[in-house]
Amino acid sequence: MNITHRPRRLRTSQAMRNLIAENQLHAENFILPLFVKEGATTPTPIKNMKGVVQHSLESLEAEVDRALAAGIGGIMVFAIPTLRDAQGSEAVNTNGILHTAIRKIRDQVGDRLVVIADLCLDEFTSHGHCGVLADDGTVDNDATLDIYALMAVQLAQAGAHMLGTSGMMDGQVGVIREALDGVGLVNTSILAYAAKYASAFYGPFRDAVDSQLQGDRKSYQQDPSNLKEAMREIALDVEEGADIIMVKPGMMYLDVVHAASQFVDLPIASYIISGEMAMIEAASDAGAIDRERAILEILMATKRAGATIICTYWAIEVAEMLRR
Ligand code: PBG
Repeated sequence: MNITHRPRRLRTSQAMRNLIAENQLHAENFILPLFVKEGATTPTPIKNMKGVVQHSLESLEAEVDRALAAGIGGIMVFAIPTLRDAQGSEAVNTNGILHTAIRKIRDQVGDRLVVIADLCLDEFTSHGHCGVLADDGTVDNDATLDIYALMAVQLAQAGAHMLGTSGMMDGQVGVIREALDGVGLVNTSILAYAAKYASAFYGPFRDAVDSQLQGDRKSYQQDPSNLKEAMREIALDVEEGADIIMVKPGMMYLDVVHAASQFVDLPIASYIISGEMAMIEAASDAGAIDRERAILEILMATKRAGATIICTYWAIEVAEMLRR
């Protein structure tokens, strides 16, 4: 055979394959989402999220120590309050569970890893929506922004390095940036969930936070059919002062991750969400796939698509895998 071009030459050994690898996984780029439940004394496993628990403040501290030891880049904290009301009042209670957890974690880690607080109302509202409701039952965008602004300043003062704006309210990044800057918190950064889709794959997370949601979030989260709309959302968040752009879900939206990485010069993050993880765990439990290889492949695909940062429940485990 007279074949000049043989790409297989560069695949002949592991050393050769490593030499030409275009992307690498780094534990420092991983963010681990964590759940902390008010009043809990022991960790409680979460249905369909293997290895993930609702932490007590005590077990949270131990998990953060594990995250430090594993060398991951950041942790993102979601809280489950005991009390919920229509306004989500516990979200702006400086002695509430989220603020308390952030204060404790920041004391524990200092600047050794990035402490991110989720900034949204859904865990705190009795109706489960990401914002407060208007009289007609729709989610009131602008009234919600006033609460987000206060929550942002409080969480930054509690010690959060970064705020994860996951509520998909119009103008949220701008309002939060202005509120932070207004009190001199110019170095608190914003991880903007810029392109967040109304996904069926959030199911296990809703159990994780004891979500009270009836209905859906389609009037604020994006329609899965749209890519151009994501670019519009991203452009707005950049203009409003976002520091990092997040795409969510991650696995199923690699086209959006890729487009985002071409479109803006901010770091791109991708969130591999609960239902995506559950699929992989179920497939490996069924013996259909090799679990570790599958996880590494998904994370690598996320990098290849253009994400620098990966938010994943597997963060500590993969960091440990990479080390061996
Ligand atoms: C809402 C929020 C959700 C997730 C993170 N933040 C759920 C939702 O929008 O309904 C989902 C994360 C996951 O599924 O892993 N603030």
